[in-house]
Amino acid sequence: MAPAQFLVFAAFAIFSGCASATFARYAACQSTLKPKSLPTQFCPAGTKYVSQTDGNAHFSSVQAAVASLPNDTSPAFILIAAGTYQEAVNISRKGPTTLLGQTAHPASYTQNLVTIFNTIFINQTTQNASIQDNADSAVLTVAPNKYAAWTGAGYYGGTPVPIPDDFGSTDFKAYNINFENRANNGGVGPALAVGIGFANASFYASTFRGMQDTMFIGKNGSAVFRKSQVLGSVDYIYGFGTAYFDQSLIGSRGAGCTTAWKGTPNYTNTYGAYFSQSSIVRSPDANPSLDLTGHQTLGRPWNNASVVAYMDSYLDSSINPAGFQIWSPTDPRNETIYYAEEGSHGPGFNASARVPFDHLLTAAQARHNFTVEKIFGGLPKWVDWEF
Ligand SMILES: *[C@@H]1O[C@H](CO)[C@@H](O)[C@H](O)[C@H]1NC(C)=O
Ligand SMILES: *[C@@H]1O[C@H](CO)[C@@H](O)[C@H](O)[C@H]1NC(C)=O
Ligand SMILES: *[C@@H]1O[C@H](CO)[C@@H](O)[C@H](O)[C@H]1NC(C)=O
Ligand SMILES: *[C@@H]1O[C@H](CO)[C@@H](O)[C@H](O)[C@H]1NC(C)=O
Ligand SMILES: *[C@@H]1O[C@H](CO)[C@@H](O)[C@H](O)[C@H]1NC(C)=O
Ligand SMILES: *[C@@H]1O[C@H](CO)[C@@H](O)[C@H](O)[C@H]1NC(C)=O
Ligand SMILES: *[C@@H]1O[C@H](CO)[C@@H](O)[C@H](O)[C@H]1NC(C)=O
Ligand SMILES: *[C@@H]1O[C@H](CO)[C@@H](O)[C@H](O)[C@H]1NC(C)=O
Ligand SMILES: *[C@@H]1O[C@H](CO)[C@@H](O)[C@H](O)[C@H]1NC(C)=O
Ligand SMILES: *[C@@H]1O[C@H](CO)[C@@H](O)[C@H](O)[C@H]1NC(C)=O
Ligand SMILES: *[C@@H]1O[C@H](CO)[C@@H](O)[C@H](O)[C@H]1NC(C)=O
Repeated sequence: MAPAQFLVFAAFAIFSGCASATFARYAACQSTLKPKSLPTQFCPAGTKYVSQTDGNAHFSSVQAAVASLPNDTSPAFILIAAGTYQEAVNISRKGPTTLLGQTAHPASYTQNLVTIFNTIFINQTTQNASIQDNADSAVLTVAPNKYAAWTGAGYYGGTPVPIPDDFGSTDFKAYNINFENRANNGGVGPALAVGIGFANASFYASTFRGMQDTMFIGKNGSAVFRKSQVLGSVDYIYGFGTAYFDQSLIGSRGAGCTTAWKGTPNYTNTYGAYFSQSSIVRSPDANPSLDLTGHQTLGRPWNNASVVAYMDSYLDSSINPAGFQIWSPTDPRNETIYYAEEGSHGPGFNASARVPFDHLLTAAQARHNFTVEKIFGGLPKWVDWEF
């Protein structure tokens, strides 16, 4: 057996020991990176290598590596060495694109070594919404062009910006990467860690940190998060695409709503925010002086077609006994939305205190509408279900 092959097997043996159900298919590529050596032997052919310190790296920024990829349908891989990168990363190519963060522990985000951050926020006092959108603040954007990721109508300066027919990344993946918008220290305005539009994207052992509007899943966007973490405060998971969170931690860093969702019949993907076997809790890094008990709700309707469901999830005491909330007293938007919980447990669940528009479902009822297959119209092939 050649030494290289032996090392590959050794890496898999280590990971199968500490991560029961996780098959980390890129473990060898992510863990055997050595300074001053190109990661050719353990990584998919053609992998681009980004490092701020290794002189043998192909690029020193993630966006430089992304910009080097051909604008076609070929698969592409980028391995990012341990480090903290300040930049905006924009993925617009159609071909499957995978970002791999260097780590010896691919099964868990708790030991991630790669952080991509930025400090851009939108000042809503001075914003000209016809030329600047909240989504322009995103650390990571996955969309065929920046207008396709916009929250608003997709007009620039009053002129409609077309979405290319041949749109978007049909398959973007990121493993073991922290995406963080550090602009918002409470109250400066929207500051996104990620925005996704007209694309399918999935994330594994990755984290997203912000305050207001941390995560935006936009028009015709679909996203799956597995064993990942999202931290924020105001409407920190929002959009009108389809988002599915599996075995993830959703943490509140301040009073606010976990979700603000909007339904739309304009695009053919189904829509809604769905959480399965996850924990909805006070953020582990929330300011210790904040009393967040009862100060987080599971969501409020951005429009009257909002759909949000929590399945088999743990809710701590930061969740308000009412569960969900109306948009506002003068515009409640609660008559035609669909909000549901199944198998909620923990101190944040009180069935008798829930708002009347929360459907408390049995497991069988939840399976009727909210399995992955039902939500996406079939098991999405663009998701790594072995992770
Ligand atoms: C990439 O190709 C698509 C068509 O497939 C085109 O719409 C888009 O403008 C191209 N992007 C760049 C950056 O050239
Ligand atoms: C990346 O996307 C953001 C958000 O849409 C945008 O503000 C920025 O100009 C884009 N940068 C590049 C290099 O395309
Ligand atoms: C916003 O931008 C548009 C397009 O450039 C411009 O016509 C309009 O005057 C701007 N509005 C303000 C209030 O500056
Ligand atoms: C997303 O994936 C689905 C299959 O699950 C596919 O039909 C659809 O075209 C993809 N959407 C985009 C925007 O790439
Ligand atoms: C937003 O803009 C207003 C008006 O220029 C300014 O007073 C305020 O300080 C800005 N906010 C932030 C957080 O920079
Ligand atoms: C859906 O399309 C209608 C008609 O073009 C438009 O008025 C509305 O704003 C769109 N909704 C969304 C969420 O894009
Ligand atoms: C949205 O994506 C679907 C594929 O999932 C595609 O068939 C449809 O044309 C897209 N809608 C728009 C308005 O681009
Ligand atoms: C839902 O919102 C739409 C658009 O604002 C409005 O036309 C419609 O009357 C609303 N439906 C209900 C039941 O409130
Ligand atoms: C649950 O809510 C009901 C109605 O508000 C309240 O009477 C009860 O004390 C709550 N139970 C717990 C354990 O807090
Ligand atoms: C919607 O909210 C309003 C205001 O709180 C309330 O009066 C009404 O009963 C609610 N409707 C439903 C279906 O929960
Ligand atoms: C759930 O399924 C029932 C029965 O098919 C259907 O009436 C209802 O509209 C569905 N709800 C959602 C939010 O899909």
